[in-house]
Amino acid sequence: MSNKIWGGRFADRPDAVLEEINASIDFDRELAAHDIAGSLAHVAMLEKTGIVAKADAEAIRDALGRIHGEIEKGAFSFSRELEDIHMNIESRLTELIGPAAGRLHTARSRNDQVAVDFRLYIRAAIDAIDAAIRALQTALAEKALAHAGSVMPGFTHMQPAQPITFGHHLLAYVEMLGRDRSRFKDARARLNECPLGAAALAGTSFPIDRAATAKTLGFDRPTANSLDSVSDRDFVIETLAAAALCAVHLSRLAEEIVLWASPQFGFVRLSDRFSTGSSIMPQKRNPDAAELVRAKSGRIIGALTALLIVLKGLPLAYSKDLQEDKEGTFDALETLSLCLAATTGMISDLEPDVARMKAAAGAAYATATDLADYLVRELGLPFRDAHRVTGRLVALAAKKNVGLEKLSLAELKTVEPRLTKAALSVLGVENSVASRTSYGGTAPANVAAAAKKWLAALGKRG
Ligand code: ARG
Repeated sequence: MSNKIWGGRFADRPDAVLEEINASIDFDRELAAHDIAGSLAHVAMLEKTGIVAKADAEAIRDALGRIHGEIEKGAFSFSRELEDIHMNIESRLTELIGPAAGRLHTARSRNDQVAVDFRLYIRAAIDAIDAAIRALQTALAEKALAHAGSVMPGFTHMQPAQPITFGHHLLAYVEMLGRDRSRFKDARARLNECPLGAAALAGTSFPIDRAATAKTLGFDRPTANSLDSVSDRDFVIETLAAAALCAVHLSRLAEEIVLWASPQFGFVRLSDRFSTGSSIMPQKRNPDAAELVRAKSGRIIGALTALLIVLKGLPLAYSKDLQEDKEGTFDALETLSLCLAATTGMISDLEPDVARMKAAAGAAYATATDLADYLVRELGLPFRDAHRVTGRLVALAAKKNVGLEKLSLAELKTVEPRLTKAALSVLGVENSVASRTSYGGTAPANVAAAAKKWLAALGKRG
């Protein structure tokens, strides 16, 4: 037997391998609720415009409600022979109400149907991701406020550079995540147009009301060009691009957690809830969740790349290539949500070792810039000269294997005769961070204010 829905011109049934490559029901069943919402909006419009009689519209509506219930309960039997979610639902509709079911597809095609379903899916996914990013920002900002004054080494080139505060470091991620949210928000605003009614590619001869279906489904307006409507997947690309960058941010943070939690750094302790043991080495506390967040960025970036390649060179309008837009996207957005939840959990539980971080901040001449700044301020040296003088002092101290504060006045004067012991008062790490009061700098007062500002913006009291 040929296909029940489109098989009119076929005598033979599809080859098993065609069925296997063609069927999308194993993954696009994810769209079921959105497909039914789209159909309900469509049938309401067909009824209102007089294209479908009230009695048929009512029968269709009731049966769609019942099918929704069956799918939610897991009582719906999906069939590969029926290819995809659209035809599985339509076929069940026919079983339930007979030929009237066939009226639902008036002035519609699976091409605009799948486009509307996918926009609804992506829109809901963006809303869920936005909430998850917000929760992570909140966890980071709360920890940042608690540690606005906890000193740690700041790194450049992974070399100790200048002391900063732990709160300042965490707030850097809050900023990144803020940009991620604004990218998702932009993508959402652009995707919020309704392709329903574009039909196969050319529009329809029926007197449909596209503005009405757009409104019912919460879209701002109908899409303007029927060809573009059925072939556009920019909304998926934009969302995956935002997801990929967000995943890269999470991966950078995960990498820092892995480093900080290592005994060599010992800057933080991950909770038992977010550590795993080794089956052979009893002493181990492994940061598996952070490692997986770091690695899972790969499949999210991969989904973006794969879809860009699907679209590249694809002529207008619909081609079955577009069915390949789903699996990677579903996986990428679910993976991002999981990574966000895991990162929020790790951050909430994270215990920094304040004493150890502070000791590390003072090592390796990390306050040398403070001394150079002092020479500029107090002796009026040009910064380049101050840099050279300080460099020579560091070399002297390093040769003796001591900190700068251990140099004698006589030794200081061999490098710059105008130096007094007072110069060394600026070498403390607390003093160093407290002095960085420029806008956006690491001074604890700045950090506390920034954390409070974020918490207020996130709807939390600071
Ligand atoms: N399963 C298809 C997809 O995901 C639905 C659209 C099919 N349209 C068609 N003309 N075969 O893209």
